[in-house]
Amino acid sequence: TSVLIVNGPNLNRLGTREPDTYGSTSYVDLVALCMQWGSDLGLEAVVRQTNDESELVGWMHDAVDERQHVILNPAAFTHYSYALRDACALVTSARLALIEVHLTNPHAREEFRHTSVVSAVATGTIAGFGTDSYRLALEALAARLG
Ligand code: DQA
Repeated sequence: TSVLIVNGPNLNRLGTREPDTYGSTSYVDLVALCMQWGSDLGLEAVVRQTNDESELVGWMHDAVDERQHVILNPAAFTHYSYALRDACALVTSARLALIEVHLTNPHAREEFRHTSVVSAVATGTIAGFGTDSYRLALEALAARLG
């Protein structure tokens, strides 16, 4: 089974971006980790990143068409993109899993991060475990697929 792992804006800067907040693992390392964790669980992880909202929306549409489950870190779009939220609803209403992940725990941070417009249409959310949030999401997906 192939799973699409999608990362939103600024996550390509992981490793050098506010390392006290986001950790020192680089984006390239995160991609490699996700592919390894996926293959350990029998999942083929396809990992992508974009800073572009419209590209993210298009990838959700592609996931529906290709019947791919999604692990999504919407990054800052989490907090205000209704367009991405509606695209995520397309995924879950097509009976595909969409797991929202965050490196940090947004609820422990600034007020504007306390709202996720994506959570209500996600299968579930994993936040606050650093890069392990992605591993836990892959494990949750593998368990769900049985
Ligand atoms: C994030 C949390 C968001 O609030 C932030 O805008 C990000 C990353 C996380 O993974 O912790 O870019 O989604």
